[in-house]
Order: sequence, then structure tokens, then C-alpha cells
Amino acid sequence: MSPEKNTTKTLRAGVVGWPIAQSLSPTMHSYWISEHGLDAEYVPLGVAPEEFSTLIKSLPEKGYVGVNVTIPHKQAAHRLCSTLDVDARAAGAVNVLIFENDKIHGRNTDVLGFCAALEDALGADAARTGPVVVLGAGGAARAVILALARSGAAEIRVLNRTRTRAEELTEELAQELGGAEFKIFEWGDWQNALAGAGLLVNTTSLGMVGKDTLDISLESLPQKACVVDIVYNPIETGLLAEAKARGHRTMDGLGMLMHQAVPAFEAWFGATPAVTAELRRALEQELNG
Ligand code: ATR
Repeated sequence: MSPEKNTTKTLRAGVVGWPIAQSLSPTMHSYWISEHGLDAEYVPLGVAPEEFSTLIKSLPEKGYVGVNVTIPHKQAAHRLCSTLDVDARAAGAVNVLIFENDKIHGRNTDVLGFCAALEDALGADAARTGPVVVLGAGGAARAVILALARSGAAEIRVLNRTRTRAEELTEELAQELGGAEFKIFEWGDWQNALAGAGLLVNTTSLGMVGKDTLDISLESLPQKACVVDIVYNPIETGLLAEAKARGHRTMDGLGMLMHQAVPAFEAWFGATPAVTAELRRALEQELNG
């Protein structure tokens, strides 16, 4: 892809990922742009990992005030930044870039976004009812784990296909966890990892449209445990469907998507957007339609 030069005063932002067609961010930000009557646009930018840094460096001169960064670029984005906010530094991952005076500022709004969404959907105690199981050890997992620690999780069990990545994550985040304790389980050891858990969170891309399904057994997950998937396309992933069928309370990926976007929109466009039931309906409509 090659984003065009901006010859107008229109403020530009976008979302950079690979693949990108599944992203709802353009629909969401465009909804807020028209709600606030702004002269602005928000576009999808698909770019492969090897082209990522060249693309990012080319955006400011094309009129971009910033971008969201999504799978698989969140850790690469972290390495490109001149400054980082506290959560981006702690997570080692960035989901928002702000371009300003030849500098690239990196933020991680996924941490706050996940905290807000969890509280909205499952209540303030959701991370405090027992060990929390996190599937994945990528950029999104880092933000989710920080959010869980902040929300009061006492024990965080991490499972990742590539075990070394889980080990790196636990080493790097250990300082940031307050009192929370990490345990690593083998990918596929659902039986032991889920036993006695209070919350299960999928942060991998498994279950997303176009990706493999998440092949997990919820057999040993206690009935009272809640299940969260940060994948939002489809809204009801295989994991959430199975969890609902077993009677678990669930949270889908739209809440985190909407809440992480608020501070990004504010930083780029100077207006504070609202997370509303109407916005959720617009996003659901886009997904279903
Ligand atoms: P993000 O920044 O959004 O988290 P990422 O850093 O590419 O994206 O991380 C993707 C996550 O999904 C990782 O935990 C990845 O596992 P690996 O570290 O082993 O790559 C996980 N994932 C992706 N495809 C997977 C698959 N087919 N099976 C198991 N896990 C997978």
C-alpha cells in the first residue's frame, strides 16, 4: 500500500496492521469524526512486518497526526518511539502513535481500555475472584496482564504456543505487577491451567476471522469463572460460544476496542468521544453486515 500525500488541511489518522481488512477501527473512528463534525479521516493501512518502520516514518509528511497499531506490530512500534507513556514502557508494547514535531510518541491505551471494559462488562471484582488465565504472550497479552494486575489479580497463569516468549514476558513484566504472581503452563495443558481459575482471557489471534480456531477444553474451568476474548471479529468467537453454552459469564472484544480508542481519538483530534450503546450497535452492524 502507499498512502497518498495529503494536500488539504484534513487531519489524518489510521490503523496499521497485517492483515487489516478485519479491523473495525475505521468504522469506529469515522463514526466519532462525523459525530463531532471534524475535518478528519481515519483509514486502514495494511503493511507487512518488514515494511512497517518505513511506512510509519513516511506518514507524518502525508498529513497523518498518528495511527493505531495492531497485530502483529505492537512490539515493533515500541522500538520506533522517541517517547513512551508509562503503560507503553511497562508493557513493552504500543498501540497508539502520535506524530508531533519530528517525534513519534508511543502510548499504550490497551491497558486502560481493558480495565474499563472488564469493569463495565463483568464488574470491578472480575480479576479478583481467583487465578486468572491468560492465553498468549504477544503485545496484546502484555497490556492485558498489566491491566489484570492493576485490577487486583493475585495469580496470573500464562500459556503461550512459544513458551520462551511467555518466559520473556514474565521476566520483563515482573517488576510491574505489584503483588501478583506469575505461573507459566504448557500450551495445551488446559486441565491444570484452568483448574480453580476465576477468569480466562484469550489474547491470541486464534478464533479471529481467517485464523485457526482456538482448540481448548474448558472441562476443568469452574462454573463461576468468567471468560473473555479480546478478538472482536467475529463478536462471538468459538471460545465465547462454548463458554456461554457451559453457563459462564462472558465478555467480547468490542468493549476493549471502544475504550482503548477514546484517549487515542482525543490525542489526535482534540475531542473526547463517548463509548455508547449506539456505537456498539453500529460496530455490530458493520460486523454482521
Ligand atoms: P499482538 O501484538 O496483537 O498480541 P502478536 O504479538 O503477533 O500480536 O501475538 C499474537 C499471539 O497469538 C501470540 O501469543 C501468538 O503465539 P506465539 O508467541 O507462539 O506466536 C499467538 N498465536 C498466533 N497464532 C497462533 C496459533 N496458530 N496457535 C497458538 N498461538 C498463536
